[in-house]
Amino acid sequence: MRTVKVNTSKEYDILIGKGLLTQVGKELAKRISPCKAAIITDNKVDSLFSATVSHSLAEAGFSQCKFVFLQGEGSKHISTLSDILEFLAEEEITRQDVIIALGGGVVGDMAGFAAAVYQRGISFVQLPTTFLAAVDSSVGGKTAIDLKAGKNMAGAFYQPKLVLCDINTLLTLQKDIFADGVAETLKYGIIGNEKLFEKVETLDYIQDLEEIIEICVSMKRDIVMRDEFDNGERQLLNLGHTLGHSIEKLSQFTISHGHAVAIGLYLIANAAEARGMGESGLAERIRKALVKNGLPTKAVFTVEEIAQGALMDKKRRGGTISFIFPEKIGRCRIEKIPVEEVEQLVAEAMKSR
Ligand SMILES: NC(=O)c1ccc[n+]([C@@H]2O[C@H](COP(=O)([O-])OP(=O)(O)OC[C@H]3O[C@@H](n4cnc5c(N)ncnc54)[C@H](O)[C@@H]3O)[C@@H](O)[C@H]2O)c1
Repeated sequence: MRTVKVNTSKEYDILIGKGLLTQVGKELAKRISPCKAAIITDNKVDSLFSATVSHSLAEAGFSQCKFVFLQGEGSKHISTLSDILEFLAEEEITRQDVIIALGGGVVGDMAGFAAAVYQRGISFVQLPTTFLAAVDSSVGGKTAIDLKAGKNMAGAFYQPKLVLCDINTLLTLQKDIFADGVAETLKYGIIGNEKLFEKVETLDYIQDLEEIIEICVSMKRDIVMRDEFDNGERQLLNLGHTLGHSIEKLSQFTISHGHAVAIGLYLIANAAEARGMGESGLAERIRKALVKNGLPTKAVFTVEEIAQGALMDKKRRGGTISFIFPEKIGRCRIEKIPVEEVEQLVAEAMKSR
């Protein structure tokens, strides 16, 4: 088992290893006294892993209740959050108790937000079961729901008590869902680790998933510890996301988050090259790595549509939006772009090179 220690507004451990779901109760009991655990999950993950988690919690003396919602990004909205909060109250969950987020990024973001606001904050544990959640969303304390206006438009910064990543859960993932996590892994490579990028672009990583997850979450931990509340360096983690989020929403979530980020990574690399910020050949190298891993690089939407969505980005501050531009594999920079220039930037990004 690998342990990554996080020291933000809350200190917590990220445990990574095989078969860890059977250890949830034991690991949790080391950190909090036995209490009532509210498992929050989606229907697919429930059918695969709830029984194991529940058994482990019971063995360690935790009583339990469970809330299951319909799988998919379409559930990540205010009415599901409201149902979760009402459920917690009906179950008489108190501030001594704990929420267990069992699932991918959708479960983690929503259960985390519920934990942040229920009785002004109760403890929660992340049990990521997708590759994307393992390398990225379960760590760092961003929790959110989508609004009609855009992705993750309401949320809170709220760190978990523990992240326990059982890599055996990744064995049941569909290929395309696994690939969502590969897009975020390539993002980490482009931000600051060329060796990681190389491993993924040559498909030389499947046997090393534990190590890959440790590298990604350690990078995220380091950045989040320097900028927990996303006012500077943490924005680097949004590489590919401003255009990606716009594409994801335009598709009405038929394009998954990871696939939309893949397209966003390629597009922003194109724009970086067009602006002379990215080294020559950068976008093509990223495109090839994405395609090799079964990820898309093209969006069917117009420049105007994508630009319009990008204007809703949370990195917008008045008249500018911060975009993250890759300069080379392993180095990116943050640039403020005036809102009236965004359409031109998207046009540059979408021009075939
Ligand atoms: N908070 C953050 O820092 C952060 C970072 C990146 C992404 N996100 C968010 O994460 C979400 C995407 O997460 P995701 O890609 O995990 O999507 P997801 O949670 O919707 O999971 C994808 C699908 O995989 C299924 N699934 C989950 N685990 C499985 C398993 N082990 N075996 C078989 N099927 C399984 C789920 O039921 C779902 O249908 C987006 O909403 C995105 O905004 C958040």
